[in-house]
Amino acid sequence: MTAASGPGSTDPAAGLVFRRPVEADHARIVAVIDDWWDGRRMRHLLPRLWLQHFTGTSWIAETADGRLAGFLVGFVSPDHPDTGYVHMVAARPGLRRRGVARSLYARFIDDIQVRGVHRVVAITWPGNRPSLAFHRALGFSVPEGEGTTRVYGTPAIVDYEADGSDTSVMELDLARRYHAALRAPLDGGPEPAAPQTKATGAR
Ligand SMILES: CC(C)(COP(=O)(O)OP(=O)(O)OC[C@H]1O[C@@H](n2cnc3c(N)ncnc32)[C@H](O)[C@@H]1OP(=O)(O)O)[C@@H](O)C(=O)NCCC(=O)NCCS
Repeated sequence: MTAASGPGSTDPAAGLVFRRPVEADHARIVAVIDDWWDGRRMRHLLPRLWLQHFTGTSWIAETADGRLAGFLVGFVSPDHPDTGYVHMVAARPGLRRRGVARSLYARFIDDIQVRGVHRVVAITWPGNRPSLAFHRALGFSVPEGEGTTRVYGTPAIVDYEADGSDTSVMELDLARRYHAALRAPLDGGPEPAAPQTKATGAR
């Protein structure tokens, strides 16, 4: 058994239900998304197409009362089939630091590893310290290389989207940097089985 389970499965330890999103979830996600990003305008980054064409590798978490607890929208890159890309991940503010986003990621990685993916990419604003800390805790790194500049102390590409916004590109090598923390249970949950991919360089 892995930490992730199939669509509709429950995680009784946390009282959360994890399932695939459906198109009808779009409205309820965009209704909260700006609040969840501390008032930043984010909803334009999640047009409805994400809930039409990427649901097979995306996840929603709900509390027992059906309220949205978190979501992850991701996909396997058509151009780079060895790479998974997480477009957005978030946990409801009142449920943070309880493993919700980590658990969403674990499910996404289960989805993509069976398709031969061994690398995950996600981007974030270099000023988003919780996002950077979260991704680093999962084993992501922020490579410093050609084209990067330190922004708020983190390597970033200036004007990444040609709109003036700076962006840090985060990478997770599932073969070498897969972090044991990714498989940690939700609060009070059972200890999950070891990942199938060996964490040779875990830190
Ligand atoms: C970033 C975010 C998704 C993390 O969600 P979360 O459910 O709180 O994260 P988890 O509980 O799974 O955290 C797993 C580990 O990541 C690290 N981490 C998470 N949030 C952290 C924070 N604010 N500060 C430091 N470390 C953090 C910790 O090591 C944590 O393990 P621990 O709590 O046992 O120490 C959440 O803060 C969020 O929704 N932020 C707004 C949306 C956003 O910025 N998304 C990311 C960019 S797409």
